[in-house]
Amino acid sequence: MNITDIYETMEYSPAPESPDLALEWLKDRKAKFGLFINGKWYKAKSGKVFGTNNPATGEKLASISVAGKSDVDSAVNAAKKAFPGWKALSGHERARYLYALARQLQKHARLFAVLETLDNGKTIRETRDIDIPLVIRHFYHHAGWAQLLDSEFPEHTAIGPVGQIIPWNFPLLMLSWKVAPALAAGNTVVLKPAEFTSLTALLFAEICEQIGLPPGVFNVVTGAGETGAMLVKHPDLKKIAFTGSTDVGRIIREATADTDKKLTLELGGKSPFIVFEDADLDSAIEGVVDAIWFNQGQVCCAGSRLLLQESIAEKVIERLKKRMAKLRVGDPLDKSMDMGAIIDPVQKERISNLVEQGKKEGAEVWQWQGKLPQNSKKSGKSGGGCYFPPTFLTNVTPASTVAQTEIFGPVLVSMTFRTPDEAVMLANNSAYGLAASVWSENINQALHVAPKLKCGVVWINCTNQFDASVGFGGYRESGYGREGGHEGMFAYLKKKDSGIPKNELRIAVTKIKAASKTALSLDRTAKLYIGGKQTRPDSGYSLSVANADGTLAGEIGHGNRKDIRNAVEAAHKASGWQSSTPHLRAQILYFLAENLEARANEFQNRIMKLTGVSRKQAGIEVETAVRRIFSYAALADKHEGLIHQPPMRGLALALNEPIGVLGLVCPDEVPLLSMLSMLLPAIAMGNSVVLVPSRPFALVATDFYQVLETSDVPSGVVNIVSGDAKELGSVLAKHDDVAGLWVSGTADECANAKKFSSGNMKIVWTNNGKKLDWFDNHQSEGRVWMRRASQVKNVWIPYGE
Ligand code: NAI
Ligand code: MG
Repeated sequence: MNITDIYETMEYSPAPESPDLALEWLKDRKAKFGLFINGKWYKAKSGKVFGTNNPATGEKLASISVAGKSDVDSAVNAAKKAFPGWKALSGHERARYLYALARQLQKHARLFAVLETLDNGKTIRETRDIDIPLVIRHFYHHAGWAQLLDSEFPEHTAIGPVGQIIPWNFPLLMLSWKVAPALAAGNTVVLKPAEFTSLTALLFAEICEQIGLPPGVFNVVTGAGETGAMLVKHPDLKKIAFTGSTDVGRIIREATADTDKKLTLELGGKSPFIVFEDADLDSAIEGVVDAIWFNQGQVCCAGSRLLLQESIAEKVIERLKKRMAKLRVGDPLDKSMDMGAIIDPVQKERISNLVEQGKKEGAEVWQWQGKLPQNSKKSGKSGGGCYFPPTFLTNVTPASTVAQTEIFGPVLVSMTFRTPDEAVMLANNSAYGLAASVWSENINQALHVAPKLKCGVVWINCTNQFDASVGFGGYRESGYGREGGHEGMFAYLKKKDSGIPKNELRIAVTKIKAASKTALSLDRTAKLYIGGKQTRPDSGYSLSVANADGTLAGEIGHGNRKDIRNAVEAAHKASGWQSSTPHLRAQILYFLAENLEARANEFQNRIMKLTGVSRKQAGIEVETAVRRIFSYAALADKHEGLIHQPPMRGLALALNEPIGVLGLVCPDEVPLLSMLSMLLPAIAMGNSVVLVPSRPFALVATDFYQVLETSDVPSGVVNIVSGDAKELGSVLAKHDDVAGLWVSGTADECANAKKFSSGNMKIVWTNNGKKLDWFDNHQSEGRVWMRRASQVKNVWIPYGE
């Protein structure tokens, strides 16, 4: 080719990064790896190994050990032993270790980048410029949190040894998102990398050795799903942090339901990329490239659903096709490639099948026409590289498979909308809720739309931005919990014990007696409270409740599945509460306090008679309840978000949003105070609730209807369904339109709540069967509950021309 030709075609020359450094590293280790446990390398007792390949060529890179049961036990044991010592270090001492890790990562950045590209198939451009720099940033940032732990989280402490299971799409980055906060907070770790991509985690373990990280603080067990499942089930791990598919997330939710393990799940997505007609289209089109062809589309937050305003749809589709034609797909080590290889033939087949399915369902398929290095020179030996062309499906309907299923490959689907409201509806028409990208030059419009999108991250006029200071995580079936940022630290901390001795009286439930007489007529039955109205239970049946002395106190409605359904519907209709101003919610709560106080005597008598506590004790309960309402009225307009300044020209707004419709199942002890302690943070944050009161003391809740009615709480914000707590709790757990569930009850009720909630992956809090001291402000009031009642949405806003 002569110079004139080059000017004509503007062909790229190859610009390969040398793999030698990484290949030497592998060779030095004879391409065989053991497990990293208690600061040493071990051969797996299972005796089993598996190969890890280079997706770009299909060649085997190394042999990796399969950790079996006894290997996992040793690793967990090491983490358990190391925990007290690691936690006891000062924040400063832990910070020094994290800082040393950051420095070493920086020093070996090139080796990490090349090794990651070899093992994963993603381009060197990405590993070098995105993955590894973010990893380094993560360790620096969290060295800071370690240093500041005591001053910034004074009421919190580490959880214990934690198990972490990560996917193959961002191997080292996902390691850093999990390991850095865990160690900073004082936990110890057993990590299981994904079976396709263990190498950078093993190199990271070597770095831990080099900096002299105390043995057992960080351990790596390699293997596939079975090894992961062993971690999940291990009784000595206090938390599981998982990133991966929603299917496996569901299995983990169910497998840990009857334990008090903490759980954070970062699952799949089908994120919308919304382009309004007033968007800067050139930028938006480059945005699409970064949204869906970044990392071959194997990104949980990939902008895989392109939603175009009708007036510009045709134009954008044409221009995008032109832009697609110019993408460069090929050798991931070539520095000028846009896209590299797909992780594995299994994944490629999955992608292919879904595209075929899309075609069958009527989509028009447009594919990149270049030559894929399918049959690379090494293919004769080992099957060749694994590539899939950038693909664009138009004429897609919102309900079709390709519009709903996470494809996890370089496949974009597009749909159109007319109005901003329609854009929001279409965007939220997904079981997932991880991220969204909004393109409009009208910042008012973009910021109007952002809070309406049901997802944890919104990028305005940008996409796929990440930073250690900004939390990341999903709503709905995209999981729960946040990684990164201030909120991410809470995922690795628990509240310290208040140290207040437990006063038995405070949590006592006096013996619950069966009523001796059942002669009341149905008319006297306290009804359910749904949509601001007292309604008869669907069953028509009532349950009698007794006073402490055994006399009949009254009858309560026996609510069932249908009543819960009606209550959930009413709660959804009250969604205006979410967008009401915090000031208004505060005012209404103050009014509620006033009205409860006005009826203090009535409640005191009721509590006394029902529970058998002394007049004085019942009085203290009512008084504390009134004070608690004041506290949440105060907090209602103060649980505000943060503004982050990630390393870009722009801001990220961390907004505390209500979860939506919350189910609350209340305990028997101190029935008024415990019920309000759960109800208040929920509504102060803007959630609407379906509340199941204590079965024996439900009359306290039904008396409370009047207080609600006189306090301007909008109808549908608080719905109360009395009945059997276990039964109704399970109905709430299984209900797909309930976004979160809190259960304070028996161990059994708590386990059910977690197990049955895996359908829509609702956020669940339970007391794990342990009684709380509802009089203790430290555990039963305040920001910890406001955090429970909210989730953080991070809205990224770049600025400048
Ligand atoms: P996966 O969810 O099976 O794997 C993720 C991690 O979980 C791996 O380390 C794996 O070994 C482990 N694992 C698998 N089964 C387990 C179990 N029963 N208990 C504990 N750990 C277990 O994802 P996979 O099979 O690699 O990919 C399948 C699909 O999942 C992809 O096509 C994609 O749609 C989705 N996916 C989504 C990711 C995300 O970040 N949202 C990441 C990886 C995959
Ligand atoms: Mg590999």
